[in-house]
Amino acid sequence: PKSQGFHNVPNTDFSLAPARAELAAALDRVRQKLGRDHPPVIAGKALKPAAWITSTNPAQPREVIGRWGRATPADADTAIAAAKTAFPAWRDTAPAARADILERTADLMVARRHDLSALIILEAGKPWPEADGDVSEAIDFCRFYAQEMRELARPRLSQIVPGERNTLQWIPRGIGVAIAPWNFPLAILCGLTVAPLVAGNCVIMKPAEQTTVIAATLFDLLVEAGLPSGVVNFLPGFGEDVGAHLVAHPDIAFIAFTGSRTVGTAIWETAGHAWPDQRHLKKVVCEMGGKNALIIDNDADLDEAIPAALYSAFGFSGQKCSALSRLIVLDAVYDTFVERFTAACPSLHVGNPADPGTIVGPVIDAEAKAKIEGLIATGRSEATLAFQGDSPAEGWFVPPTVFTDVKPDHAIAREEIFGPVVTIIRARDLDTAFAIANDTDYALTGGLFSRSPAALARAQREMEVGNLYLNRPITGAIVERQPFGGYRMSGGGTKAGGKGYLENFLNPRAISENV
Ligand code: SER
Repeated sequence: PKSQGFHNVPNTDFSLAPARAELAAALDRVRQKLGRDHPPVIAGKALKPAAWITSTNPAQPREVIGRWGRATPADADTAIAAAKTAFPAWRDTAPAARADILERTADLMVARRHDLSALIILEAGKPWPEADGDVSEAIDFCRFYAQEMRELARPRLSQIVPGERNTLQWIPRGIGVAIAPWNFPLAILCGLTVAPLVAGNCVIMKPAEQTTVIAATLFDLLVEAGLPSGVVNFLPGFGEDVGAHLVAHPDIAFIAFTGSRTVGTAIWETAGHAWPDQRHLKKVVCEMGGKNALIIDNDADLDEAIPAALYSAFGFSGQKCSALSRLIVLDAVYDTFVERFTAACPSLHVGNPADPGTIVGPVIDAEAKAKIEGLIATGRSEATLAFQGDSPAEGWFVPPTVFTDVKPDHAIAREEIFGPVVTIIRARDLDTAFAIANDTDYALTGGLFSRSPAALARAQREMEVGNLYLNRPITGAIVERQPFGGYRMSGGGTKAGGKGYLENFLNPRAISENV
């Protein structure tokens, strides 16, 4: 019930046999329905696309997940026109009614959570718990933003003055686009879409090419939950043409983006231009990459630090912007840590994510595999390969890989890898460790394992990251609990799943009435 406030939905406990049976059954069920066509949808009407693109399972690329219709820049214009037509009625819909639709979406996702997880396992290659967490986060985004909108819509006096009534209203910005990545194919697309929607804007969804079938499923859920025609439109396509066209369009008032630094900075620049017929400055919500560091202090509890580091580096094959990429280990504990860390690595079972025992699945596609393998080759020439696991021959697998003797200026210590590769760097003392950790263009996640309260306090002052984690893993932010997002080249400082996020999609209006 709304009055009881927001609560995070719990993840599924797969240590329980009935839960495992449910997801196994869902995998069978979803596999029966693979291979469907998912066209672009504008104002409730499916388009006949000129081209169909096939989406495949990264663990077994011969398995077709479905086909999606490639939208063109002309389709993008049609979608913008449809969204403009739908906007006035949606803007004037009561915020509580808009919030209800998000809550219905969340309820539908709860009811179908294992089917959604199954599709994420098959299309994105996520292992079971990671896929389940993706669904939980999507549910949380819907419920949290719904609650936030109800809060923002409450009439609020800005100051009590006799004879004058001063209030603040939040009004939607207009038409925008959600451009989402494949790595949280349900959660991030959902968050980028429902936040502007509940705020009263119309949205064009431009999902990642690799996970468009999941995106089409989310779009169908939003429509089923009651979003009117044209308020949300589904425009699968390629970033280079349809994405770029949308970003540059004068009628687009905001861009909600998560993805690579290259694309993010290009969006930021394009959106900065005001065309002669443009009537607003575009707002960009931009979340990009990281080169995230975890410092291991001399007195760290290694029984805790090692599993936390393993999970942070290799969870979902390191394909999270939050993933651990640089382990900075203090001199006195370096040899012990490296020995114990590399000894623990073989416990990471690499395999097909449809198998519940898999901890590390494939990477997303052939291009990602080639890029990561290229960086591993660079690493072999720069540093010492301390561990490399085995991986299946079929599918886009890259085995977990650990480099030691890495220097802070090595390419593998500076470039975002976005794969199951971790670099270990030795630091003389804590001063050096903080300096190395901060010596990057990025500022997303970071952490410290230490038993020293003084060191933990220093980390809070000195580690330049948007999400700092002390004595715990550095990935897996939970909605409301750890508002997520970085600064510098990691993003524009906005916090997904946090207070203040909805205001990105609203303009404030102050009203003063002589009474
Ligand atoms: N929000 C995710 C995490 O915290 C990354 O996108 O791991």
